[in-house]
Amino acid sequence: MSFNLLKGKKGIIFGALDANSIAWKTAETIHAEGGTFVLTNAPIAMRMGQIDELAKKTGSKIVPADATSVEDLDNLVTQAMEILGGKIDFVLHAIGMSVNVRKGRDYTDEKYDFTTKGWDVSALSFHKVMQSLYKADAMNEWGSIVALTYMAAQRTFPDYNDMADNKAYLESVARSFGYFFGKEKKVRVNTISQSPTATTAGQGVKGFNSFISYADKMSPLGNATAQDCADYTVTLFSDLTKKVTMQNLFHDGGFSNTGVSQEIIDSFSD
Ligand SMILES: NC(=O)c1ccc[n+]([C@@H]2O[C@H](COP(=O)([O-])OP(=O)(O)OC[C@H]3O[C@@H](n4cnc5c(N)ncnc54)[C@H](O)[C@@H]3O)[C@@H](O)[C@H]2O)c1
Repeated sequence: MSFNLLKGKKGIIFGALDANSIAWKTAETIHAEGGTFVLTNAPIAMRMGQIDELAKKTGSKIVPADATSVEDLDNLVTQAMEILGGKIDFVLHAIGMSVNVRKGRDYTDEKYDFTTKGWDVSALSFHKVMQSLYKADAMNEWGSIVALTYMAAQRTFPDYNDMADNKAYLESVARSFGYFFGKEKKVRVNTISQSPTATTAGQGVKGFNSFISYADKMSPLGNATAQDCADYTVTLFSDLTKKVTMQNLFHDGGFSNTGVSQEIIDSFSD
């Protein structure tokens, strides 16, 4: 179902790797809602992923950019404005990667070069993206910027490892930059704290399959899917949420406010 909520709006979408990616579903949904956009991902992901297929489907251009490189991001912002024919209304940051997780290093055995790299990719990149947009005065008034996060920023999930710290930093950047973007440019900045979702990044977390089932049983509405997240993001890019900013918005079927569910109690009964 389409409501034409994003008719005439132009944006940049980071992080579509394959059809499971939250950013992929979001791109399809934005397209259906009348929005146009440039797709971007790290040059290496271009080779591994299927982003060309998404570009074709949505009539979009692709501009590669490593989100840790200010030079790449400045170029992306300039090119996106050229391609889209003006300033930008929405930006989705859907980027995450922990080298410690990838290399099987526990939280109590971090290799700090890995930690720094993962933080740069997953958290500082959000500041870099916004600084490039801000300095180029690339955002239209009442534009909207969203990054994706996870509840491990507030509560401990042992196998989420150093990504928990990266997400806490990411959420803080949304508040801090949200202040300046709001004051100077009337642009809003929020993070969506999404349920565990079966994607390449999600499945990198140890014990993911058990954990996603646990979260589903704990949430009164069940886990939010990638498509649910795409739908929610569209509302945040639309003109219906103009005064929502500097928020971390839980999108998790009620998980974050549930102490325990009946299903979990029953699984412990004799
Ligand atoms: N999957 C989950 O369970 C879950 C839950 C909550 C939040 N999130 C967040 O959602 C976002 C999207 O992840 P996803 O689950 O769709 O997984 P995904 O693996 O499909 O997407 C992660 C993306 O990050 C990109 N990326 C990595 N390094 C990059 C770099 N240097 N520059 C630019 N892009 C880079 C990858 O190429 C990939 O497209 C991430 O921030 C993730 O932490 C995921």
